[in-house]
Amino acid sequence: MEKDIKILAIESSCDETAAAVVVNGREVLSNVIASQIDIHTKFGGVVPEVASRKHIEAISLVVEEALNEANLTLKDIDAIGVTYGPGLVGALLVGVQYAKGLAYALDKPLIGVNHIEGHISSNFIQYKDLEPPFICLVVSGGHTFIVYMKDYGEFEVLGQTRDDAAGEAFDKVARAIGLGYPGGPKIDRVSKEGNKEAIAFPRANFHDKNCLDFSFSGIKSAVLNYLNKMKMKGEEINKADVAASFQKAVVDVLVDNAMMACKRKKVDKIAIAGGVASNSALRAAMVEEGTKRGIKVLFPELKLCTDNAAMIGSAAYYEFLKGKRAPLELNAIPNLKLGER
Ligand code: KG4
Ligand code: ZN
Repeated sequence: MEKDIKILAIESSCDETAAAVVVNGREVLSNVIASQIDIHTKFGGVVPEVASRKHIEAISLVVEEALNEANLTLKDIDAIGVTYGPGLVGALLVGVQYAKGLAYALDKPLIGVNHIEGHISSNFIQYKDLEPPFICLVVSGGHTFIVYMKDYGEFEVLGQTRDDAAGEAFDKVARAIGLGYPGGPKIDRVSKEGNKEAIAFPRANFHDKNCLDFSFSGIKSAVLNYLNKMKMKGEEINKADVAASFQKAVVDVLVDNAMMACKRKKVDKIAIAGGVASNSALRAAMVEEGTKRGIKVLFPELKLCTDNAAMIGSAAYYEFLKGKRAPLELNAIPNLKLGER
């Protein structure tokens, strides 16, 4: 039997400082996350400089805790995986520099991981038997992609957002109706008490009917216009109805495009990933539509949907198997593209 590969993974691309130990890309021995949400909530969104400072304060403790929970020491680790993009440059740099320091001091291989590929890989942890090919809908605060995952580390982007990311739209609309930050989970919760058919917010329409791209800024503007109109008329706003109707508009396009991607690639498996993958309406609608079409819908548990380092450890493992190693000159790349090395 081959030796187990234990990867220590580090993630610091936005507002979570995270470290995890993952064995053979699938088994999570520890998954520690220090969230900065409380600090950023005061400002209504992530403040990059504050995020970097908080990462610096937390990173050693988070890594130590990940090793302790895994009952391992640095000597037992076979490689260090780290997110090097996309994300906030100052935030990414904290993780990258820390990982480089460890790799150099321990003389262990360093593996640079694309954050979005990490999100996709969270499904490998949730579903131990999942193998490519499959379609993945990546919906997070910064990104919205429909990806055909041909093989490990091989991605074809079939569609992406032309403006706001899905999570960004959730956050902006939540702020506009006074729900606060982070908006996604709040809209999800409030929508349960609202009528999703109450207001007909428009879906983006591209000339090319086969286009799998998204646009969420139009839906967001429609919500803002609606709120203004109601205010001018002096009418009361039903927050739950606005939230539920907005959420339905977003979920409808996500589901339509994801299903179209499966049809196009003749694939009967679709995985969802990223923070918005924890949205209860999206999960329910995907399963409902998937069941009708004979498509299996997969999504990771909530802790694996939002930013974490276990997903980075999984993606790093498949890079490790391919012999990919990052040099000690590895730098943070804030706009790193999917599939780019
Ligand atoms: O993946 P993630 O943790 O960070 C990025 O890489 O961006 O995603 C965070 C995003 C935020 O925009 C947040 O509002 C959204 O995911 N989110 C949700 C839900 N939980 C988190 N959006 C809709 N419904 C949710 N339940
Ligand atoms: Zn993310």
